[in-house]
Amino acid sequence: PTIYVVTPTYARLVQKAELVRLSQTLLHVPKLHWVVVEDAAAPSALVASLLAQSGLRFTHLHAPTAPERRRRPGDPAWLRPRGAEQRNRALQWLRDTRAPAEPAVVYFADDDNTYSLRLFDEMRSTRRVAVWPVGLVGGLRFERPLVERGRVVGFHAAWKPERPFPLDMAGFAVALRLLLARPGARFDPRAERGYLESSLLRHLVSREQLEPKADNCTRVLVWHTRTEKPKMRQEEQLQREGLGSDPHVEV
Ligand code: UGA
Ligand code: MN
Repeated sequence: PTIYVVTPTYARLVQKAELVRLSQTLLHVPKLHWVVVEDAAAPSALVASLLAQSGLRFTHLHAPTAPERRRRPGDPAWLRPRGAEQRNRALQWLRDTRAPAEPAVVYFADDDNTYSLRLFDEMRSTRRVAVWPVGLVGGLRFERPLVERGRVVGFHAAWKPERPFPLDMAGFAVALRLLLARPGARFDPRAERGYLESSLLRHLVSREQLEPKADNCTRVLVWHTRTEKPKMRQEEQLQREGLGSDPHVEV
């Protein structure tokens, strides 16, 4: 099966660094198609040329977050779901262009996480929805589904454990066939904090149907890493003096 990796991304200082790192991980994965969805009103030259030079099979989409749902200056990052409309745009593209008979798996890979190559081997055999642990998330060393006799019987999660699916976005993959069979399945951009993953999964499976991967969810193969925002004090100072770093150099 092909793996469709769906990545929402937005313009900020570290965007290119994140996408270069992720693209170079994905280059090691066979039969992969990268669906990159910019949170923007139009595709950017930076992302377009990065994709063209990446060596990956890719599709470049864009979908701006609705103005009323966009983060306002001073708002904390967690106030609204991030990447929801972009992932929905990718779902639409999959439904518009892919054949239900195509053997494929869809994985929602944020641009800032850290992915082991073994994770892609694990998810490729997904029949409906596969799940596995995610490191460094939910205020824990890791969150994970709890498995007994090969079945998911609960979750190790401490933050809002009452969620229908207390899983991070990085902790599951979905069979393309199932997504195409449930045209109403999408992310709810108005979902309450922490409920974005459940807003999709509740359309697709029951907890009992989840397929545990990564040695019955005993191995961490993906980490919810987050990149520090670079400080630009000197840059701003120099810019005020007309001596900022050359704006023609892409960073
Ligand atoms: C956590 C989860 O890991 C995300 O998958 C989930 O979307 C998010 O919470 C949520 O609940 O909304 P976190 O690390 O806090 O993630 O989120 P980010 O990494 O900042 O954003 C997730 C993805 O959306 C990234 O690929 C990012 O580039 C993209 N994004 C973020 C946008 O497209 N637009 C934005 O304004 C912000
Ligand atoms: Mn993140």
